[in-house]
Amino acid sequence: MTTPTIELKPSANPLSAAEREAILASPGFGRHFTDHMVTVRWTEGRGWHDGRLVPYAPLSLDPATMVLHYAQEIFEGLKAYRRPDGSVATFRPEKNAQRFQASARRLGMPELPVETFVEACDALVRQDQGWVPAHGGEESLYLRPFMIATEVGLGVKPANEYLFLVIASPAGAYFPGGVKPVSIWVSEDRVRAVPGGMGDAKTGGNYAASLLAQAEAAAKGCDQVCYLDAVEHRWVEELGGMNLYFVYGDRIVTPSLTGSILEGVTRDSLLTVARDLGYQAEEGRISVEQWQRDAENGTLTEVFACGTAAVITPVGTVKRAGAEWQQGGGEPGEVTRRLRRSLLDIQRGTAPDTHGWMHTL
Ligand code: COI
Repeated sequence: MTTPTIELKPSANPLSAAEREAILASPGFGRHFTDHMVTVRWTEGRGWHDGRLVPYAPLSLDPATMVLHYAQEIFEGLKAYRRPDGSVATFRPEKNAQRFQASARRLGMPELPVETFVEACDALVRQDQGWVPAHGGEESLYLRPFMIATEVGLGVKPANEYLFLVIASPAGAYFPGGVKPVSIWVSEDRVRAVPGGMGDAKTGGNYAASLLAQAEAAAKGCDQVCYLDAVEHRWVEELGGMNLYFVYGDRIVTPSLTGSILEGVTRDSLLTVARDLGYQAEEGRISVEQWQRDAENGTLTEVFACGTAAVITPVGTVKRAGAEWQQGGGEPGEVTRRLRRSLLDIQRGTAPDTHGWMHTL
């Protein structure tokens, strides 16, 4: 595999510092974008080439570009954090790069070398580091690497040309309520992914498949939809865009990776952080019946969602057809708060990085 270098063409017209500060004061999630983006092309027979750091700008695509028709697309999400000394570090970018390669294999796309993925993220963060929010708050800079099929044509086949891009967006809490508990609608008929399908790949199609159920969850007054397995319709898989953890006192359990669940980087990190804190952290199977029963009899003490965008968000109300129950008393539980704090301390550089997860620029 070739590893292209990334050449810089700086923006002639970046936002002023005052405009940027106004955005950083209340960024929301995914609403504002920094001044630059990285692009790298892949062509059959030539490999990866033309790595560039260019002004953030719309793409011009032929209407017959394959990604627009057959959804050959993959993406990632990772964050850059401001440290107490003002420097900037990203969290586990190599892990995202490896998952990006796994997603590429599943969708018949070329694998981007891990070092090119990391260098592309570094180049963008270095150039736009004024967009990394100040240390001490909930905010960070969310990076969105993605790849699309750019061959023009309507034949259904893996494309012979691709474009890899990285864009960046200052991010506050994913949910408008911040770290307040979110409500969940358990969908027992719609499924997100099937055995042998693409559920473990981070591809837009999985998110498109989740939108109708997400809209149904919203219509029932819930923030997120929870999916069950596609065969028995009873084993908890994941939410529309994040993984789940169940807390039984000192034991925490997350659904095992079955092939139809996305292997979340936050999910994986929490298995380690929880063990470091002395909890018993496991992967296992939890049915929706067990979830309801254990919440009602009090053995299930907390439930939380996790992901790069969601960080760690407690779950409060849970609804399924014919039933509704409340997890906790409307405030985040103690284990959820402790895990959240411990992970964020590592990410923001206020606790030792004993696992070598932080990548400094
Ligand atoms: C993330 O947490 O990075 C995600 O990709 C979830 C969602 C925003 C799509």
